[in-house]
Amino acid sequence: KKVGIIIGGRTVEHEVSIITGLQIYDNIDRTKYQPYVIYIDKKGKWNIGDSLGDINTYKNKSFDGITEVIPWQNFDKKNTLTLHPNPDLKQGLFAKKREKLEVEVVIPAVHGTSVEDGALQGILESCEVPYCFTGVKASALGMDKVSMKKIFHAENLPMVDHIWFYRSQYRKDQEQYLEKAESIGYPLIVKPANLGSSVGISKATNREELMESIEVALSYDKKILVEQCIENLREINCAVIGYEDDVEASLCEEPIGWEEFLKYEDKYMSGKKGKGSGEDKRIIPADIPDEVSQRIRELAKKAFMAIDASGTSRVDFLYDNKNIYVNEINTIPGSISFYLWEPSGLPFKELITRLIEIAET
Ligand code: DAL
Ligand code: MG
Repeated sequence: KKVGIIIGGRTVEHEVSIITGLQIYDNIDRTKYQPYVIYIDKKGKWNIGDSLGDINTYKNKSFDGITEVIPWQNFDKKNTLTLHPNPDLKQGLFAKKREKLEVEVVIPAVHGTSVEDGALQGILESCEVPYCFTGVKASALGMDKVSMKKIFHAENLPMVDHIWFYRSQYRKDQEQYLEKAESIGYPLIVKPANLGSSVGISKATNREELMESIEVALSYDKKILVEQCIENLREINCAVIGYEDDVEASLCEEPIGWEEFLKYEDKYMSGKKGKGSGEDKRIIPADIPDEVSQRIRELAKKAFMAIDASGTSRVDFLYDNKNIYVNEINTIPGSISFYLWEPSGLPFKELITRLIEIAET
């Protein structure tokens, strides 16, 4: 079966996605699947290689010789995504690569806005090609931290105090929103509503920092979330796999040695390794009491079902050795959380197979 692994995209998490996608490419079960990498560049152009014997070009992050495609001509056959090389491209490497690529199932190994948020899922949906992970609605809910919190709230999931506002509201009446935020109490965490990998997130301990943090977050998004910053915070993460109510939770992990909240570079860009491979940077299973880990796993499943997720998601929690708070759900988690599934008894290869099977259900 031909499987398209989509990587890249117009997103600040572009590079993380390349890591995730190539990990999937390297680990997919080749007795069952023939993988093809489809690369969306930073401008949003789709590219394919010729049956990707040439995957090393991706590994070196030099994307020369990849045939540009027009994704909008996808509709000539049901249940496949058909990508046509751009007929306008000139000879050279292109010459050998005129054939179109048809894939029967897609793994969108992408993170962030315009790809993980339902936009890409919408294209795949209209092609009627099965794809892994969540559908359009859950993808959108998983990306927008404000909408996500509203759903979680409706499902009685515990969360830290927070407020949100639009840039336009803040510009009109800054004082009102600063006061609202301050009524939660410092320290505060300020986040753009719609990003991942901790981009644009900062901590504020006084008004001056709060105003700075809000400007940083506003440079990424028009919608801002300001949250209570839990003291003695521990981050505990738990992945969930399945669909509808047929769901299972992984072991819990505690990422350690990171700053108060994880920096993009630490999380994904340190060395050549992707998330999950920094052995000294996460404890699995997390060193927490059994009942806490049980509770987190239950809450993770509830969060997954709350947004109607599918495939595998990672739910991130905050824990202050007393209370547990749901922080967020990542509907296409970095490295698809294989490092949580392996010690939970599901090897990477089987994880990918399972996700494809769920996609085809
Ligand atoms: N958004 C990144 C990839 C994650 O949370 O895993
Ligand atoms: Mg995230």
